[in-house]
Amino acid sequence: MIRKTASNINFISLVIILVISGFIYHSCYWDNEEYLYPKISQCDTSVFTYSAAIKPILDSYCLSCHANNVASSFGGNVKLGTYPDVKTVADNGKLVGSIGHQNGFSAMPKGSSKLEGCKITIIRKWVTSGALNN
Ligand code: HEC
Repeated sequence: MIRKTASNINFISLVIILVISGFIYHSCYWDNEEYLYPKISQCDTSVFTYSAAIKPILDSYCLSCHANNVASSFGGNVKLGTYPDVKTVADNGKLVGSIGHQNGFSAMPKGSSKLEGCKITIIRKWVTSGALNN
């Protein structure tokens, strides 16, 4: 009788340990970065439309200085808030020149490190395919 109680307790602790480790395993699995922060399409260079790729990049990295209401104070009066303004710097070469840190252009984003290569590629592809409002 005593023996049976002891083995019951052992069995119960074994079950508890298994349940707990199952939880730990599962929570680690679901805490995986890929599940919590799925890679955004900005770095998929096959997507290079204005709405899906270009505008989100400009919104995150450029509009703190180039939004239409702050451009005169912080952005050397270069506006990047709306498509027609972006189209202007796309067509005159300044957009690609500045993010590529090419000679003769002011390096952008000003005061920060260069954009990731894939983002530069996305912008370049959009410009070379006509800088459409797509
Ligand atoms: C911290 C503020 C700031 C940020 C962020 C910033 N810019 Fe600028 N940008 C400026 C200023 C100021 C100028 C005016 C030229 C200068 O002072 O270098 C400028 C000029 C430009 C020009 C004209 C460049 C030339 O050679 O005539 C372009 C194009 C440009 N920015 C694009 C961008 C893009 C694209 C981003 C985001 C990837 C960006 N900027 C982020 C402040 C900024």
